[in-house]
Amino acid sequence: MINLITIRELSETQLQKFLSHSFQIKKNPEQFSQALKGKNILQFFVENSTRTKLSFETAVKKLGGANIAFAGGASSMSKGESLLDTVQTIQQYGVDAMVMRHSSGGAIDWIAKVSGLRVINAGDGQHEHPTQALLDAFTLMEQWKLPAEEANPLAGKKIMILGDVLHSRVARSNIHSLTKLGAEVTLVAPKTLLPSDLSLFPQVKVLHRLDTPSGKEELADVDAVMVLRLQLERQKGAFFPSSGEYRHFWGLTRERAALLKSTAVILHPGPMNRGIEIDSEVADSKQSLILKQVENGVWVRMSALMGVFE
Ligand code: NCD
Repeated sequence: MINLITIRELSETQLQKFLSHSFQIKKNPEQFSQALKGKNILQFFVENSTRTKLSFETAVKKLGGANIAFAGGASSMSKGESLLDTVQTIQQYGVDAMVMRHSSGGAIDWIAKVSGLRVINAGDGQHEHPTQALLDAFTLMEQWKLPAEEANPLAGKKIMILGDVLHSRVARSNIHSLTKLGAEVTLVAPKTLLPSDLSLFPQVKVLHRLDTPSGKEELADVDAVMVLRLQLERQKGAFFPSSGEYRHFWGLTRERAALLKSTAVILHPGPMNRGIEIDSEVADSKQSLILKQVENGVWVRMSALMGVFE
């Protein structure tokens, strides 16, 4: 394995191998404390990040490697230096692998090809965010005590992905990952916030409203709801009338969360818009796994980093 750019291109076996390895790492991280000894990992973030960036840096440290930090806004890219010139320049300092985030879908795949570096995608535009999908699957399987090694470990589980699917790389990677792992996935979003062509995701069910009988039935039936951030920075135009209206129709409010089974769990990749796509009370409730997701991000990213050196 050299690169981790998409979940779509991973086989079920490769996906399960990453997850199974992540469980092994979480059980005994010390065992891997020298795995990246002598390796320099470039953290190349050309789009803002809190969780993903810090968890990758933490993962490198726990594996005994060294981080080379890079922040797009504070670099010569702000003077007009191209992406390729920037990467080729940093490569001269001795880089063994690169973790990269970029606001353009496809930019990471291209850089991987032209630089020849081992690359992990930490989120490219609206395209994919593979390690987020890995940590989400990991968190669900841990919660439900499901083994990563058996075929279709999420078979029989119903997962709702709620919100701004159109702009969400988290949704795209998760649809691929959850369906490959055997789960049933329902997307709930206004028509304007869904990709116009859903033929890439033939296995998913789609609903537009939560307050209809079928919407309420779905809420009462699912084992997990993954709430997506409303990605205002990627919206060029009006996709819905106002944030208040968005919450009214598509937010995971306290009232809607009360319809969930008591065993159902709630995920959100962060950062949250509290009071818009999710009520604070719901985000902080006992059913929420949001901070667990953050913690588990370190273990799956350790697995991803080791994976690119295999
Ligand atoms: C996500 C991202 O950047 O794609 N955040 C994250 O990595 N935890 C989701 C988002 O920004 O909405």
